[in-house]
Amino acid sequence: MARPAAKALPPKHLVALAVVAILGLFLVADYLWASSRSAAPSIWPSRVDISTRPTASPPPSANKQTKGNASTGSMDISATFADLRAPELQWEQMAEAPVPRLDGAAIQIKNLLFVFAGYGTINYVHSHVDIYNFSDNTWGGKFDMPKEMAHSHLGMVTDGRYIYVVTGQYGPQCRGPTARNFVLDTERKEWHDLPPLPVPRYAPATQLWRGRLHVMGGSKEDRHEPGVEHWSLAVKDGKALEQEWRSEIPIPRGGPHRACVVANDKLLVIGGQEGDFMAKPGSPIFKCVRRSEMVYSDVYMLDDEMKWKELPPMPKPDSHIEFAWTNVNNSIIIAGGTTEKHPINKRMTLVGEVFRFNLETLEWSVIGRLPFRIKTTLVGYWDGWLYFTSGQRDKGPSNPSPKKVVGCMWRTKLHL
Ligand SMILES: *[C@@H]1O[C@H](CO)[C@@H](O)[C@H](O)[C@H]1NC(C)=O
Ligand SMILES: *[C@@H]1O[C@H](CO)[C@@H](O)[C@H](O)[C@H]1NC(C)=O
Ligand SMILES: *[C@@H]1O[C@H](CO)[C@@H](O)[C@H](O)[C@H]1NC(C)=O
Repeated sequence: MARPAAKALPPKHLVALAVVAILGLFLVADYLWASSRSAAPSIWPSRVDISTRPTASPPPSANKQTKGNASTGSMDISATFADLRAPELQWEQMAEAPVPRLDGAAIQIKNLLFVFAGYGTINYVHSHVDIYNFSDNTWGGKFDMPKEMAHSHLGMVTDGRYIYVVTGQYGPQCRGPTARNFVLDTERKEWHDLPPLPVPRYAPATQLWRGRLHVMGGSKEDRHEPGVEHWSLAVKDGKALEQEWRSEIPIPRGGPHRACVVANDKLLVIGGQEGDFMAKPGSPIFKCVRRSEMVYSDVYMLDDEMKWKELPPMPKPDSHIEFAWTNVNNSIIIAGGTTEKHPINKRMTLVGEVFRFNLETLEWSVIGRLPFRIKTTLVGYWDGWLYFTSGQRDKGPSNPSPKKVVGCMWRTKLHL
């Protein structure tokens, strides 16, 4: 009688051994991959993100080492595993921006999209503003930013005339942040100072709410550690009404690259991540090295009670969306972004969906797909058309990892 029981054991052992073997393979593959990464010369050797490997080698697979399909099922996740089903949208390509941009910023005022800063390459950042005119679909009106203003990871918001610009990264690669803040009067094309933040941040959530400029989350000075602090400053017509930022209720989860929206007198913070690339210690050029990142689908809201509440999460985690949204007919529309890295090959995974958050029903849906997956898009809406420009796009339909920094502009007719 003991025999059959004993016989039942070996398969279990084998399964356990197979699991251990697979885990071991992952660790080795991951280690090799990580070491090859740190030896890579730059974040985009030829505009290729550090998070990508040469496409030639397939994800490490244990198929050769283990027998049977059951134990390897989880390893056959395709590179496109994160894509969600989406209705088809017809896209029209418009005039290309004067320069390609990654991590730029954009603010729409009426029929104009003001596009700021951003990386052209990892070693070059822009310090000017380009303007897209939705009425005649042309680019123009280039002018300079203040020399002291950050070049990426900015917080930015408008009251309809003045654009408030806070903190961000100063310079290329993974350089340090500045706490300096500015206001642009878009009618007179004049820049003015605002009191600096108590400490600088990378890509904090930024909005105007009830007469105050709110800045929260973002990454701390090392670019990686999430900050949860939340400050506000009373402002009016492009001027600070106070000398100092006031501390507000910290945000439950910190980190950069989130959409921050005020709608129906509520402040919403959507998606984003914890962790980001960091400067390599001792590197004279502050060379970017990849660090762990967790991407989130969370939606937080502040209302009268001044207590954070959670709303239904996005259909999937999404980050790098701080200027990738617009509010149309009481729905927030978000285009592209980055989601969780591929679980096996660890590549950064870009997002190609267009999401809708209906503020009336508090329901999320996927309303379409972009012409390709892309992060840090700059989005606008005018006269029935949804527009997006700029960012870093994918390698192709079957490879969602980041490659080229682009300046193209696309639009699609939106029907909600
Ligand atoms: C593995 O998959 C192949 C093809 O799908 C199938 O023919 C075979 O029976 C499977 N083997 C096991 C052990 O499940
Ligand atoms: C935008 O284009 C419209 C139509 O051509 C034009 O009337 C308007 O002056 C333009 N706005 C700016 C700021 O150039
Ligand atoms: C927004 O609502 C208006 C009025 O109901 C409607 O005419 C318009 O088509 C809607 N816009 C979109 C993009 O669906």
